[in-house]
Amino acid sequence: MQFTAITSPAQQVSTELLILPIFSEQPLSNSAAALNQALNNQLQTLIDQGDFTASAASTLLLPAVQGIAAKRLLLVGCGKAPLSDAATRKLVSAAIKSAKTLNITKASLLVDGLEVKQRDCYQITRLIAEEANSTLYVFDQFKSEKKPATQLNELEFVVAEADLAAAEQAASHAQAIALGMNFTKDLGNLPGNICHPSYLAEQAQQLAKDYANLSVEVLDEQAMESLGMGALLAVAKGSEQPPRLVIMQYTGAKDDSQPLALVGKGITFDTGGISLKPGAGMDEMKYDMCGAASVLGTMKAVLELQLPINLVGVMTCAENMPSGRATRPGDIVTTMSGQTVEILNTDAEGRLVLCDALTYVERFKPKAVIDIATLTGACLVALGDKTSGLLGNDEELIQQVLAAGKTAGDVAWQLPLFDDYQEQLDSPFADIANIGGRFAGTITAACFLSRFTKNYPWAHLDVAGTAWISGGANKGASGRPVPLLTQFVLDNL
Ligand code: BES
Ligand code: MN
Ligand code: ZN
Repeated sequence: MQFTAITSPAQQVSTELLILPIFSEQPLSNSAAALNQALNNQLQTLIDQGDFTASAASTLLLPAVQGIAAKRLLLVGCGKAPLSDAATRKLVSAAIKSAKTLNITKASLLVDGLEVKQRDCYQITRLIAEEANSTLYVFDQFKSEKKPATQLNELEFVVAEADLAAAEQAASHAQAIALGMNFTKDLGNLPGNICHPSYLAEQAQQLAKDYANLSVEVLDEQAMESLGMGALLAVAKGSEQPPRLVIMQYTGAKDDSQPLALVGKGITFDTGGISLKPGAGMDEMKYDMCGAASVLGTMKAVLELQLPINLVGVMTCAENMPSGRATRPGDIVTTMSGQTVEILNTDAEGRLVLCDALTYVERFKPKAVIDIATLTGACLVALGDKTSGLLGNDEELIQQVLAAGKTAGDVAWQLPLFDDYQEQLDSPFADIANIGGRFAGTITAACFLSRFTKNYPWAHLDVAGTAWISGGANKGASGRPVPLLTQFVLDNL
């Protein structure tokens, strides 16, 4: 979908559909009042008669309005001002659902007059655009009968003159982020029999064909062996699918300034291995590659925007399967860093594929490294599916990531990485065990990673809860944390 911005008096916006947000219990905004006047007081009458109460996310379509340049008017209730992010999303979703049923290609939305708590016009526009994109997203590749695709392909934001530049920038950023999120969602929704490690590698290679300043290198098992990546290899051992370490390098900066590095967990299916998971809901473990997919999605957004920064994106990909060749509980492997690991639970595989990738990225002398992983069920228990877990070794970096999440409406929350937790990883037989105890699972997982990230500022995002929407009509990948990561890049230009 195309996002654009214009400035114009509301009654002069020439469009197939004008979406007009209206707050309850307050006079019409200036734009709404101007429309009302051009419409012979029709809006005020609808409100006075109680035909439109402006309750949250309610909609009323006025199909053939006369006296204004727009052909149709869609009133959207906002409830009481100001709006929260969540309420804004709900009303945008309701408006877009209503708009997509019409035979139109373009809709315009009056942003002017919309009040959202602690958000300026740039951020409001981003929020609306990204929600509109999510509402229109469909994944029907495997449906024999597809629902007819919506015609709606442009959303235009009508803003005050003073906000035009900000809204234009927001529209362009949101469009790139939306593309990135959709890419990430598609990959997360693909089943494990299609989206395996080599498939993810091919996606990166395709991206490098599409954009000139991206180069891609793919390491196979042999290369991993020569690098001594014993942990990554141990996870892949039980699978017929070979592992892949995919390294994408984007050169957007004019100089050879230090890159930012993103490292994503790419377990294309997580059965648990010999420490087999229970059967119920195991199908969802196809989304255990969403960390990697979010690296691809963020790379896509950055490529679209051609941001002036150097960015390294790494996907550490394997399939975690049980078999006669699979790693056993108790097996000891040597990581690329030289540290040995006792694999007490083969289901704690994410940290194993990540640790070697985290050692590998040292060669890029990154100014910061962020890893993204559907790492622990414990993170779902702690934070649910709304907030990503965040831990790391550099307070300044952590604060930057938190701020990016807030700006992007893709929030994270810091958990402590106190030294006291480290002893849970003590092993009698090797340098480190791959699991801690029963408690603080998200923290002990990060403790494990912290043993491999001592040489650079590092932050870890646990997206086990946020990368996927479980059950219900919206079941599927969420595209998170592409907005947070892209925002982080934007904030670091
Ligand atoms: N991929 C899972 C984590 C996960 C669980 C993600 C649920 C999304 C939803 C990860 O590989 C895993 O199995 N972690 C174990 C770690 C444990 C064995 C220490 C877990 O969380 O149970
Ligand atoms: Mn697992
Ligand atoms: Zn996993």
